[in-house]
Amino acid sequence: MEYVEKVIDEKIQGKALVTENKRQNTKKLFIESYGCQMNMNDSEIVAAILDKEGYNTTQILEEADLVLVNTCSIREKAETTVRKRLQKYNAVKKVNKTMKVGVLGCMAERLKEKFLEEEKIVDLVVGPDAYKDLPNLLEEVHEGRDAVNVILSKEETYGDISPVRLNSNGVSAFVSITRGCDNMCTFCVVPFTRGRERSRDPKSVLNEIKTMVDKNFKEITLLGQNVDSFLWFGGGLKKDFKKASEMAQATAVDFAQLLDMCATEFPKTRFRFSTSNPQDMSLDVIHTMAKHKNICKYIHLPVQSGSNAMLKAMNRQHTREEYMKLVDNIYKIIPEMSLSQDMIVGFCGETEQDHQDTLELMNYVKYDFGFMFAYSERPGTLAGNKMDDDIPHAVKKRRLQEVIDLQQKHSLHRTQQHLGKTEEVLIEGTSKKNSNEWKGRNTQNTVIVFPKENYKLGDFVNVKIENCTSATLKGTAVGYSDNN
Ligand code: SAH
Ligand code: F3S
Repeated sequence: MEYVEKVIDEKIQGKALVTENKRQNTKKLFIESYGCQMNMNDSEIVAAILDKEGYNTTQILEEADLVLVNTCSIREKAETTVRKRLQKYNAVKKVNKTMKVGVLGCMAERLKEKFLEEEKIVDLVVGPDAYKDLPNLLEEVHEGRDAVNVILSKEETYGDISPVRLNSNGVSAFVSITRGCDNMCTFCVVPFTRGRERSRDPKSVLNEIKTMVDKNFKEITLLGQNVDSFLWFGGGLKKDFKKASEMAQATAVDFAQLLDMCATEFPKTRFRFSTSNPQDMSLDVIHTMAKHKNICKYIHLPVQSGSNAMLKAMNRQHTREEYMKLVDNIYKIIPEMSLSQDMIVGFCGETEQDHQDTLELMNYVKYDFGFMFAYSERPGTLAGNKMDDDIPHAVKKRRLQEVIDLQQKHSLHRTQQHLGKTEEVLIEGTSKKNSNEWKGRNTQNTVIVFPKENYKLGDFVNVKIENCTSATLKGTAVGYSDNN
């Protein structure tokens, strides 16, 4: 999940998360999250489950009774980062001897019991579908046993749990709509760590959004590994859709419909979604976006490579030409649409020509943003088992730099198009560089900073754009937008 976003640049960010705490809760939980936005959201679900068990969150590692690290397996580097964090916990545990340490998320699922052998500090290993079992597992830990639950589920969507918002700005929040992925891209560990794809009941999605809107949240990002493949037909695995009753099939809700329901029911709320998969994205989704002003005109549309040979080896279910046609159609329906990519360079067998094809595709689309990676072989994936990771490190590095440089050029080209325009911005926080400036994003997801004046967090403001870098727009507010 995009690693949602623009949202998370390197997509491997650790963060101690805190929330409003309850007086009656006596135990302290330190929870840290790496990887995609889905992990961040899962940590909020875990905090909600443990809140009922008497845990408040803390940002101070040293005072924690329980330390949980929600992990990412997407690239080797993500796993190395977590291992280093475990060493830090180890040092703290030498002083705070009763502290328990648990590993959640994708590494837990991938390594299972092996984690307990490899990292002596770990007391608890819990996969992404087993968080409701945490109270039982903690009991086992307190009785002196190691506890592991890495069972993947056909049903679990945590639709009945109201996440505790962690480190929230009070303005924007994530709501998960699908879990797992059925796509089996040959390089990707996600289908193994997060299981088969399931969708969440639209009613529970709308209820959660209602709770957020009542608390004055202004922007909701719908999350899934592959949101376009959302399909609600009463629950269960997506692959079992054909076995569902005729009635269930006839009344099924797809992603375009879900998006329409959300945007219609909450007309003052901004909606974003991530991640889209080109093979599953229907033009219905684009038409729904065009219909609603409150659905942001931004699609994270990973392509991974511009070469047909690579797309095939990656088991991406579309060609370069099909992708370009989809992009043409998107720009035709919504000319101001902003697009971003995920790109992998140096995949098995990638030739210089394949790499040139990637650069050429980027020149064609001129993405607004991009998240670019050197291929990292993952154990257990088809590429890991069957293909040769044969591109030398130096070549991967050089190709990655070329892709990054080109993206930067395109990003600048895109931000320049905003100069002189007046655009609606939702104020999300104080600018990191200047405490007298607000930061927010326009509909295209581009960050805009401007002097605070008397505007407040959560206001929708019209900002005249005067300046730009490749990543940020600068301007001056000219008044409230009509969305307030
Ligand atoms: N559909 C998902 C993809 C998750 S992985 C989503 O929600 O975004 C995020 C990105 O990490 C992928 O799009 C891909 O570009 C990159 N990635 C995945 N596996 C990788 C690997 N083995 N090596 C390098 N990059 C990888
Ligand atoms: Fe991974 Fe491909 Fe799914 S990148 S998350 S298997 S769409």
